[in-house]
Amino acid sequence: MYQGIDLNNINLHLEPPTEEPARQYYFMAKCQQWVQAFEQEHSRRPTFFTQTFGCQMNARDSEKLSGILETVGYEEAGSEEADFVIYNTCTVRENANNKVWGRLGYLNGSKKRNPHKKIALCGCMMQEPEVIEKIKKSYPFVDLVFGTHNIYKFAELLAASYGQQGMLIDIWEGTDKIVEDLPAERKYFFKSGINIMFGCNNFCSYCIVPYVRGRERSRRPEDILHEIECLANDGVVEVMLLGQNVNSYGKNLKEPITFAQLLKKIEKIEGIERIRFMTSHPKDLSDELIEAMGNSKKICRHLHLPLQSGSSRVLKEMNRQYGKEQYLALVEKLRLAVPDIALTTDIIVGFPGETEEDFMETMDVVQKVRFDSAFTFIYSKRTGTPAAAMEGQVPESVVKDRFQRLLKEVQEIAAQKAKALTGKVEPVLVEEVNGQDNTLVTGRLSGNFVVHLPGTSDMVGKILPVKLKECKGFYFYGEAAEFPQGS
Ligand code: 5AD
Ligand code: SF4
Repeated sequence: MYQGIDLNNINLHLEPPTEEPARQYYFMAKCQQWVQAFEQEHSRRPTFFTQTFGCQMNARDSEKLSGILETVGYEEAGSEEADFVIYNTCTVRENANNKVWGRLGYLNGSKKRNPHKKIALCGCMMQEPEVIEKIKKSYPFVDLVFGTHNIYKFAELLAASYGQQGMLIDIWEGTDKIVEDLPAERKYFFKSGINIMFGCNNFCSYCIVPYVRGRERSRRPEDILHEIECLANDGVVEVMLLGQNVNSYGKNLKEPITFAQLLKKIEKIEGIERIRFMTSHPKDLSDELIEAMGNSKKICRHLHLPLQSGSSRVLKEMNRQYGKEQYLALVEKLRLAVPDIALTTDIIVGFPGETEEDFMETMDVVQKVRFDSAFTFIYSKRTGTPAAAMEGQVPESVVKDRFQRLLKEVQEIAAQKAKALTGKVEPVLVEEVNGQDNTLVTGRLSGNFVVHLPGTSDMVGKILPVKLKECKGFYFYGEAAEFPQGS
């Protein structure tokens, strides 16, 4: 049963409905029938394993895939030995692709040991025609391949794959469809990601995302609010609003609404205590949003604001639509409105034509802003993007040297920033019992720093005051405390 829909009440003698999500529930009922037959034959339920590569959007998509598999009766397994293995892939950098190719080799061996095994591939990598060609040629043992635009049809594709010998491939070039009310399995009972929009219109010149995720589409605010209300009723206290560029949320809706307006509506939902979002594009970060963050009790004191490069010349080549000074001014404005905000970023090193002077501009921004943490990436050439055809690809040895220098700087600053919090008492959402030491629990500050403290499983999902006793560079050791009087 999911949201009042009982799969057993669906009449499979009828033709499948044409409208969504009813159509997918029909196919879930079909899959359930297949699962029941499997169980009768083997005296056990079939198992599944999902492996997610890439970003939080993919992680959320995987929860939807798992939700459907569990709804139809599959049991989650802890390893790739499962009967149904699905890889939700990423293609943002070449090494993301390489990981998938490597793991597929292993799966082939495991499929030979398990005659029931089915292997599915989905996600961003599948939207690239050359990837599909390679799978057909070199990985014929894969059973099901689909992309980012038709992921909502997973139940239908799964049902079709049961009756088919050989590989089933269904890739769409694009869609404007958003299907609501499909099941999703949450990894954590107390926090959840929520897609507020899909796709990206920015076409940064190095980035493949607009090609594999399609144009920007926002979900209707009423659907988002309904989903969050249901989550709050189900015990969720922290939501992470997801989109490639959340700052342009709502612009293309029939009744336009800004991201800040959406946040204010979410803020009113009882039970939700923390609101996070990602990712923000500096060019679209409005004064209205900064003000909303400053006035909010629930929006976390953390902003992920990808810089990509500190050189205005490189930023122009990247088609980022802001310059170094604009970025610095934005940071100043943010810190004025939200003084305790933690700022994190993404930086690419070795973009085509990047000179030592350009790189030093990036170092300069890093030193001026003093990010609380930064993800640093070596530029990866993505076929089909404008940057792939640009002159002046930077030699590997030069890129590696710059990358090491940047990493050192970023890490030193991050450690200093964390150290400055030592001794403070901060609210921490306890997320799990520590995997390495079960006398500890692990949680996060509003600013996203990780804290380990002595505790027990009953603390998981609660927001508690914690004294940050010792800084270990990127994380803290703490202990349960009380907030100082008057705070
Ligand atoms: N090479 C390296 N890094 C990239 N990113 C996106 N495309 C590329 C690429 N071709 C990085 C950007 C982005 C993050 C999610 O991945 O920094 O913000
Ligand atoms: Fe890629 Fe730029 Fe869109 Fe981010 S904003 S997904 S970097 S194109």
